[in-house]
Amino acid sequence: MKIGIFDSGIGGLSVLHRARKMLPGAQFIYYADEKHVPYGERTPEEIRVFIGEIFGFMIEKNAEAIVIACNTATSAVTREYRSSFPVPVIGMEPAVKKAVDLYGGGDKRILVAATPITIKGEKLHELVERVDKHNMVDLIELPSLVRFAERGMFDSPEAEAYLRDALRGYDTAGYGTVVLGCTHFNYFKRTFRRIFGGGIRFTDGNEGTVKQLKRLLPRLPASDEPGGAEIYFSGVRAGAEQEEFIARCMAQLDSVFEIE
Ligand code: DGL
Repeated sequence: MKIGIFDSGIGGLSVLHRARKMLPGAQFIYYADEKHVPYGERTPEEIRVFIGEIFGFMIEKNAEAIVIACNTATSAVTREYRSSFPVPVIGMEPAVKKAVDLYGGGDKRILVAATPITIKGEKLHELVERVDKHNMVDLIELPSLVRFAERGMFDSPEAEAYLRDALRGYDTAGYGTVVLGCTHFNYFKRTFRRIFGGGIRFTDGNEGTVKQLKRLLPRLPASDEPGGAEIYFSGVRAGAEQEEFIARCMAQLDSVFEIE
């Protein structure tokens, strides 16, 4: 059983990280479209072309399900497009509903952080309109966090300075929850916490996505071992240096996993 997971880059590793824990025995193909990252600053038309190539690659590799581990890519394609493939295709959207359901009852606001494409997209606006009954939700575009993540500059002073500057017009003490609406933002939970304070809560779509994947799959072979993953960078098998970078990303994800 092979499951394809893809993202523009290393953000979707946060989905792979969780999937390996929740689906022992599964084998994964992870595709980072490093040739075209960041998607968040491209046009939806360009992104659709990239996605078409990646789907072709996944089908050729016999993936039995495909996860779009990227909020930006998901926002650029329709549900009909996703269901036109011969295997289940699971997308991701910012976990705004989860944030409202879990933490929307108090007086603290909810900040949805994502890429420009996701923030400007119709899908997110419809979602917020549907679930934000008490007008508690604000939005922010943070494109440069993707670039910092891709350079491995997690929790770096540069990323923190960028984030502080981007948040200058926001009353950070007024927020209780940050929705990580881009998979790349998981690497920066500690940085967000330094700025918003230790009490800040996070929601992301990772767990929900893997649960949905689990529901759609036939029974997996019993195993206690986390599943293995083949890593590709825009269709080319990752070399030693890239594997080393991926291992660093996974270690960072391990270190922030418990922060919720
Ligand atoms: N990781 C992607 C997301 O979840 C987008 C990053 C990018 O801009 O390429 O939206």
